[in-house]
Amino acid sequence: MQQKIKKIINKKNKSKIVSLTAYSKNIATILDDFCDIILVGDSLGSVLYNYKSTREVSLDTMIEHSKSVRMGIKKSLMVVDMPHNTYRNSKEALKNAKKIMSKTKCDAVKLEGGKKISQTVRTLVKNNIPVMGHLGLLPQSDQNFKFKGKKISEKNKILKDAKLLETAGAFSIVLECVETSLAKIVTKKIDIPTIGIGSSNNCDGQILVFDDLIGLNPIDVRFVKKYSNIRKVMTKAVSNYSKDVRKKVFPKKKHSYN
Ligand code: KIV
Repeated sequence: MQQKIKKIINKKNKSKIVSLTAYSKNIATILDDFCDIILVGDSLGSVLYNYKSTREVSLDTMIEHSKSVRMGIKKSLMVVDMPHNTYRNSKEALKNAKKIMSKTKCDAVKLEGGKKISQTVRTLVKNNIPVMGHLGLLPQSDQNFKFKGKKISEKNKILKDAKLLETAGAFSIVLECVETSLAKIVTKKIDIPTIGIGSSNNCDGQILVFDDLIGLNPIDVRFVKKYSNIRKVMTKAVSNYSKDVRKKVFPKKKHSYN
């Protein structure tokens, strides 16, 4: 097992795992000093491309953004989301995961689902491709974007799926919008780290979409804390630039060549 993966697993019950998404090099450069894991998430479909769902994201789009992100990472573990319809069976998953690993030089891939993909996870891990799981709200397949784990049947399924993913060899599991007490139980019952998004402080680590955290993506959801209002800063900069150009005070001599 890769040293970097071991380091993440060893953080369980010792220190919280910090994770964020990045879709490009410059952002990855900023995150790398502070994160344990950087995820090239297929959330880029809605955040950057205004797609209705992540189901529209292609493998080539994920690969191109990941190549950019790779250039900005020195130390963090880099994980790339396998997009919808690229892992419908083990054979397809292996072919596409190998392509992602070789073209992007990432450290691991992330797949959504439990029992349905457990054999696929086993196949990838056997072929030395580290896998991060993703349970709870599954944007690639869920129609209903509500939190998960309120119903007892949902609770049992998520817990069972988490154990199956662990047995199949996943090195960690993202829990998206999982009810607080269930996040605690899942985290306690498995030996690999859980990374929460909208799943309370009971997880071993946290992940957020970077554009949400800085207030660039104009969304308002309960689980996002906006750590800045970058839209305000950017708007001010663009407004000042446009005024300067119109007043002919930019560019000055020092910005010109002679
Ligand atoms: O696509 C993504 O950004 C994700 C995170 C929200 C976990 O899967």
